[in-house]
Amino acid sequence: MKTKLIVALDYNNLNDAKSMIDILSDSVEYYKVGLELFLSSGFASIDYLKSKDKKVFLDLKFHDIPNTVAGAIAVSIRAGVDIFNLHTQGGVEMMCEAKRVLDDEYSKLSSSLQTKPLLIGVTLLTSLNKKYLQDFSISISDEAKYVSDLAYKAKLSGLDGVVSSASEVRTIKERCGTDFITITPGIRMLDDNVDDQKRVVTPADAKSIGSDYIVVGRPVTSANDPLNAATNILEELKD
Ligand code: C5P
Repeated sequence: MKTKLIVALDYNNLNDAKSMIDILSDSVEYYKVGLELFLSSGFASIDYLKSKDKKVFLDLKFHDIPNTVAGAIAVSIRAGVDIFNLHTQGGVEMMCEAKRVLDDEYSKLSSSLQTKPLLIGVTLLTSLNKKYLQDFSISISDEAKYVSDLAYKAKLSGLDGVVSSASEVRTIKERCGTDFITITPGIRMLDDNVDDQKRVVTPADAKSIGSDYIVVGRPVTSANDPLNAATNILEELKD
Protein backbone atom coordinates (compact mmCIF):
# COMPACT_ATOMS: atom_id res chain seq x y z
CA MET A 1 0.00 0.00 0.00
CA LYS A 2 1.22 3.50 -0.81
CA THR A 3 2.04 5.52 2.33
CA LYS A 4 -0.62 8.19 2.85
CA LEU A 5 -0.36 11.54 4.64
CA ILE A 6 -2.79 12.39 7.46
CA VAL A 7 -2.58 16.00 8.68
CA ALA A 8 -3.36 16.39 12.40
CA LEU A 9 -5.77 19.27 13.02
CA ASP A 10 -4.63 19.98 16.58
CA TYR A 11 -6.66 23.17 17.04
CA ASN A 12 -8.98 24.37 19.79
CA ASN A 13 -11.46 25.97 17.41
CA LEU A 14 -13.14 25.12 14.15
CA ASN A 15 -12.19 28.33 12.33
CA ASP A 16 -8.45 27.62 12.51
CA ALA A 17 -9.08 24.05 11.37
CA LYS A 18 -11.21 25.24 8.45
CA SER A 19 -8.54 27.75 7.37
CA MET A 20 -5.90 24.99 7.31
CA ILE A 21 -8.14 22.62 5.35
CA ASP A 22 -8.80 25.40 2.84
CA ILE A 23 -5.10 26.32 2.54
CA LEU A 24 -4.13 22.69 1.90
CA SER A 25 -6.98 22.44 -0.57
CA ASP A 26 -6.73 19.45 -2.94
CA SER A 27 -3.24 18.41 -1.81
CA VAL A 28 -4.29 16.60 1.40
CA GLU A 29 -7.07 14.01 1.57
CA TYR A 30 -6.82 12.69 5.15
CA TYR A 31 -7.19 14.69 8.38
CA LYS A 32 -6.98 13.69 12.01
CA VAL A 33 -9.55 15.14 14.42
CA GLY A 34 -8.41 14.64 18.01
CA LEU A 35 -9.77 15.41 21.45
CA GLU A 36 -9.00 19.14 21.32
CA LEU A 37 -10.81 19.89 18.07
CA PHE A 38 -13.63 17.45 18.71
CA LEU A 39 -14.33 18.82 22.20
CA SER A 40 -14.29 22.39 20.92
CA SER A 41 -16.29 21.89 17.74
CA GLY A 42 -18.01 18.51 18.00
CA PHE A 43 -19.34 16.93 14.84
CA ALA A 44 -19.12 20.26 12.98
CA SER A 45 -15.43 19.53 12.30
CA ILE A 46 -16.33 16.17 10.78
CA ASP A 47 -19.23 17.66 8.81
CA TYR A 48 -16.92 20.33 7.38
CA LEU A 49 -14.32 17.78 6.31
CA LYS A 50 -17.00 15.60 4.72
CA SER A 51 -18.44 18.62 2.87
CA LYS A 52 -14.97 19.03 1.34
CA ASP A 53 -14.82 15.33 0.41
CA LYS A 54 -12.02 14.61 2.90
CA LYS A 55 -11.30 11.44 4.86
CA VAL A 56 -11.51 11.67 8.65
CA PHE A 57 -9.40 9.88 11.24
CA LEU A 58 -11.25 10.41 14.53
CA ASP A 59 -8.54 10.06 17.17
CA LEU A 60 -10.58 9.77 20.39
CA LYS A 61 -8.97 6.51 21.60
CA PHE A 62 -12.13 4.85 22.92
CA HIS A 63 -11.64 2.88 26.15
CA ASP A 64 -14.74 1.78 28.02
CA ILE A 65 -17.01 -1.23 28.51
CA PRO A 66 -17.76 -3.10 25.25
CA ASN A 67 -21.35 -1.81 24.97
CA THR A 68 -20.34 1.84 25.37
CA VAL A 69 -17.48 1.62 22.88
CA ALA A 70 -19.77 -0.14 20.41
CA GLY A 71 -22.27 2.72 20.73
CA ALA A 72 -19.56 5.32 20.13
CA ILE A 73 -18.42 3.47 17.05
CA ALA A 74 -21.91 3.23 15.59
CA VAL A 75 -22.36 7.01 16.00
CA SER A 76 -18.93 7.69 14.44
CA ILE A 77 -19.68 5.56 11.40
CA ARG A 78 -23.00 7.29 10.84
CA ALA A 79 -21.17 10.65 11.00
CA GLY A 80 -18.92 9.52 8.14
CA VAL A 81 -15.71 8.82 10.05
CA ASP A 82 -13.29 6.77 7.90
CA ILE A 83 -10.78 5.71 10.57
CA PHE A 84 -11.23 5.55 14.31
CA ASN A 85 -9.24 4.14 17.17
CA LEU A 86 -9.65 2.45 20.53
CA HIS A 87 -7.29 1.27 23.26
CA THR A 88 -6.28 -2.36 22.80
CA GLN A 89 -5.86 -2.41 26.60
CA GLY A 90 -9.67 -2.15 26.76
CA GLY A 91 -9.56 -5.89 26.14
CA VAL A 92 -10.41 -8.52 23.57
CA GLU A 93 -14.13 -8.51 24.35
CA MET A 94 -14.29 -4.77 23.76
CA MET A 95 -12.33 -4.98 20.50
CA CYS A 96 -14.50 -7.87 19.20
CA GLU A 97 -17.69 -5.99 20.05
CA ALA A 98 -16.35 -2.87 18.30
CA LYS A 99 -15.61 -4.94 15.20
CA ARG A 100 -19.05 -6.57 15.29
CA VAL A 101 -20.77 -3.17 15.41
CA LEU A 102 -18.56 -1.83 12.65
CA ASP A 103 -19.53 -4.74 10.40
CA ASP A 104 -23.24 -4.32 11.28
CA GLU A 105 -23.27 -0.58 10.63
CA TYR A 106 -21.29 -0.96 7.44
CA SER A 107 -23.70 -3.54 6.08
CA LYS A 108 -26.56 -1.08 6.73
CA LEU A 109 -24.75 1.96 5.30
CA SER A 110 -22.46 0.48 2.65
CA SER A 111 -24.40 2.06 -0.21
CA SER A 112 -23.73 5.55 1.20
CA LEU A 113 -20.09 4.93 2.24
CA GLN A 114 -17.24 4.97 -0.27
CA THR A 115 -15.05 2.56 1.70
CA LYS A 116 -15.36 0.47 4.84
CA PRO A 117 -14.15 2.43 7.89
CA LEU A 118 -10.93 1.22 9.51
CA LEU A 119 -10.79 0.15 13.14
CA ILE A 120 -7.38 0.92 14.60
CA GLY A 121 -5.90 -0.01 17.98
CA VAL A 122 -3.71 2.04 20.27
CA THR A 123 -1.11 -0.18 21.96
CA LEU A 124 1.13 1.36 24.64
CA LEU A 125 1.11 5.16 24.57
CA THR A 126 4.59 6.48 23.84
CA SER A 127 4.37 8.52 27.05
CA LEU A 128 4.22 5.29 29.07
CA ASN A 129 6.87 2.64 29.69
CA LYS A 130 7.75 -0.50 31.66
CA LYS A 131 8.18 1.49 34.88
CA TYR A 132 4.67 2.92 34.54
CA LEU A 133 3.24 -0.59 34.15
CA GLN A 134 5.24 -1.83 37.17
CA ASP A 135 3.70 0.96 39.27
CA PHE A 136 0.35 -0.69 38.52
CA SER A 137 1.67 -4.20 39.25
CA ILE A 138 1.77 -5.14 35.56
CA SER A 139 4.99 -7.00 34.94
CA ILE A 140 6.34 -7.18 31.39
CA SER A 141 9.67 -8.47 30.11
CA ASP A 142 10.13 -5.77 27.51
CA GLU A 143 8.08 -2.97 26.02
CA ALA A 144 8.56 -3.97 22.38
CA LYS A 145 7.23 -7.47 23.09
CA TYR A 146 4.29 -6.02 25.03
CA VAL A 147 3.41 -3.69 22.11
CA SER A 148 3.70 -6.58 19.65
CA ASP A 149 1.45 -8.77 21.87
CA LEU A 150 -1.19 -6.02 22.03
CA ALA A 151 -1.02 -5.58 18.25
CA TYR A 152 -1.46 -9.33 17.79
CA LYS A 153 -4.51 -9.35 20.09
CA ALA A 154 -5.92 -6.49 18.01
CA LYS A 155 -5.36 -8.52 14.85
CA LEU A 156 -7.06 -11.60 16.37
CA SER A 157 -9.99 -9.41 17.46
CA GLY A 158 -10.54 -8.27 13.88
CA LEU A 159 -9.00 -4.80 14.02
CA ASP A 160 -7.49 -3.43 10.81
CA GLY A 161 -4.26 -2.14 12.32
CA VAL A 162 -2.60 -0.13 15.07
CA VAL A 163 -1.06 3.26 15.72
CA SER A 164 2.63 2.50 15.85
CA SER A 165 5.92 4.34 16.24
CA ALA A 166 8.31 3.91 13.31
CA SER A 167 10.55 1.63 15.39
CA GLU A 168 7.68 -0.84 15.92
CA VAL A 169 6.37 -1.09 12.34
CA ARG A 170 8.62 -3.95 11.14
CA THR A 171 7.98 -6.18 14.15
CA ILE A 172 4.23 -5.57 13.97
CA LYS A 173 4.11 -6.35 10.24
CA GLU A 174 6.16 -9.54 10.79
CA ARG A 175 3.85 -10.69 13.58
CA CYS A 176 0.48 -9.57 12.19
CA GLY A 177 1.06 -9.63 8.42
CA THR A 178 1.88 -6.93 5.88
CA ASP A 179 -1.84 -6.15 5.38
CA PHE A 180 -2.16 -5.17 9.04
CA ILE A 181 -2.17 -1.36 8.88
CA THR A 182 0.27 0.83 10.76
CA ILE A 183 -0.35 4.54 11.36
CA THR A 184 2.81 6.35 12.39
CA PRO A 185 3.17 9.75 14.14
CA GLY A 186 6.49 11.38 15.08
CA ILE A 187 7.36 12.52 11.56
CA ARG A 188 9.76 15.33 10.77
CA MET A 189 11.60 16.56 7.68
CA LEU A 190 15.39 16.61 8.12
CA ASP A 191 15.54 20.35 8.87
CA ASP A 192 12.38 20.49 11.03
CA ASN A 193 12.20 21.34 14.73
CA VAL A 194 11.43 18.08 16.61
CA ASP A 195 9.20 19.98 19.12
CA ASP A 196 8.23 17.62 21.98
CA GLN A 197 8.65 14.40 19.96
CA LYS A 198 11.35 12.12 21.45
CA ARG A 199 12.18 10.07 18.35
CA VAL A 200 11.32 11.18 14.84
CA VAL A 201 11.70 9.79 11.33
CA THR A 202 11.35 11.46 7.94
CA PRO A 203 8.41 10.70 5.64
CA ALA A 204 10.81 8.82 3.35
CA ASP A 205 12.04 6.68 6.28
CA ALA A 206 8.46 5.90 7.34
CA LYS A 207 7.68 4.88 3.78
CA SER A 208 10.71 2.60 3.50
CA ILE A 209 9.89 1.00 6.88
CA GLY A 210 6.41 0.19 5.53
CA SER A 211 4.11 2.59 7.41
CA ASP A 212 0.74 2.75 5.69
CA TYR A 213 -0.17 6.21 6.98
CA ILE A 214 1.92 8.96 8.55
CA VAL A 215 0.38 11.51 10.92
CA VAL A 216 1.92 14.96 10.64
CA GLY A 217 0.89 17.99 12.68
CA ARG A 218 3.15 20.96 13.32
CA PRO A 219 5.58 20.46 10.42
CA VAL A 220 2.59 21.35 8.22
CA THR A 221 0.23 23.35 10.41
CA SER A 222 2.93 25.61 11.95
CA ALA A 223 4.89 26.06 8.71
CA ASN A 224 5.14 29.52 7.14
CA ASP A 225 3.82 27.93 3.98
CA PRO A 226 1.71 24.88 4.97
CA LEU A 227 0.83 23.97 1.39
CA ASN A 228 4.50 23.89 0.44
CA ALA A 229 5.33 21.83 3.56
CA ALA A 230 2.61 19.29 2.72
CA THR A 231 3.74 19.17 -0.91
CA ASN A 232 7.32 18.42 0.17
CA ILE A 233 6.11 15.58 2.40
CA LEU A 234 3.95 14.14 -0.38
CA GLU A 235 6.95 14.33 -2.72
CA GLU A 236 8.93 12.10 -0.29
CA LEU A 237 6.07 9.59 -0.24
CA LYS A 238 5.94 9.26 -4.03
CA ASP A 239 7.01 5.96 -5.61
O1 C5P B 1 2.74 18.08 15.60
P1 C5P B 1 3.13 16.62 15.51
O2 C5P B 1 3.49 16.18 14.10
O3 C5P B 1 4.15 16.23 16.54
O4 C5P B 1 1.76 15.88 15.86
C1 C5P B 1 1.66 14.50 15.86
C2 C5P B 1 0.24 14.07 16.09
O5 C5P B 1 0.26 12.67 16.33
C3 C5P B 1 -0.45 14.72 17.28
O6 C5P B 1 -1.84 14.87 16.95
C4 C5P B 1 -0.29 13.70 18.39
O7 C5P B 1 -1.35 13.71 19.30
C5 C5P B 1 -0.27 12.39 17.61
N1 C5P B 1 0.46 11.30 18.28
C6 C5P B 1 1.80 11.37 18.61
N2 C5P B 1 2.42 10.31 19.23
C7 C5P B 1 1.75 9.22 19.54
C8 C5P B 1 0.40 9.11 19.20
C9 C5P B 1 -0.22 10.19 18.57
O8 C5P B 1 2.45 12.37 18.33
N3 C5P B 1 2.36 8.21 20.10
